[in-house]
Amino acid sequence: MKQERAMRVLVTGGAGFIGSHLVRSLVFSGFQVRVLDNLSRGSLDNIRGVLDSIEFVEGDVRDYGTVGDAVRGVDAVVHLAALTDVAESTVEPDLYFDVNVRGTYNVAKASRSVSVFVFASSSAVYGEPVKLPIPEDHPLQPKSPYAATKVAGEALVLSFSELYGYRPVVLRLFNVYGPRQSKSYTGVITEFIKRVSRGEPPVIYGWEADPGLCPRSRRC
Ligand SMILES: NC(=O)c1ccc[n+]([C@@H]2O[C@H](COP(=O)([O-])OP(=O)(O)OC[C@H]3O[C@@H](n4cnc5c(N)ncnc54)[C@H](O)[C@@H]3O)[C@@H](O)[C@H]2O)c1
Repeated sequence: MKQERAMRVLVTGGAGFIGSHLVRSLVFSGFQVRVLDNLSRGSLDNIRGVLDSIEFVEGDVRDYGTVGDAVRGVDAVVHLAALTDVAESTVEPDLYFDVNVRGTYNVAKASRSVSVFVFASSSAVYGEPVKLPIPEDHPLQPKSPYAATKVAGEALVLSFSELYGYRPVVLRLFNVYGPRQSKSYTGVITEFIKRVSRGEPPVIYGWEADPGLCPRSRRC
């Protein structure tokens, strides 16, 4: 009887925070995993426990040749590699354009033979919400070069999916948190946890608190 072969997945940015969790999960679920990461912001320590079970390619998504080699033979791509610091993107917009837009262009274009392409976009594409909770069809109003690179990335992935026929999946991630998140990244959930663990209420902008809901009768 013919043996089903394991699905092969390329994870770009697989040595980063989200990537390292995904890579572990894929390995434990029986997928064959290849990681492409230039280790500029991630680390091999993040995937230490599964390094023997994956193929690790140290390389840059800005280099089309490297990306083409990394995509060869895979069935699906999860494209996470990116620079992710909104403030940094305002002082280094060229760098953000190169990595996040050119990099996504390279990965989306090189992936002509895959069946599924997952792209990590961001809630930053919505800018200041005009409607809460934010519906998926909320207008896109990027307020930073980082956010603009994600809008461009989404468009690139969707356009190459039309061309090649792969299934595009765009995830607009909000505040991901957990072990291995970048030390410099103080996302809102981290701030909430810090305040609540000091017995203080979380500060929620744009929301009128009901005093009855404040922990330990504090004002919030
Ligand atoms: N963490 C969040 O809350 C959040 C929210 C919204 C969107 N996202 C998106 O999810 C993805 C993963 O985010 P993360 O928090 O894990 O970030 P991260 O910085 O931990 O991981 C990004 C990885 O990409 C790699 N990388 C950077 N530039 C590269 C390049 N030129 N070539 C190859 N690899 C490169 C880094 O070395 C790192 O390992 C990113 O696309 C990010 O924009 C994250």
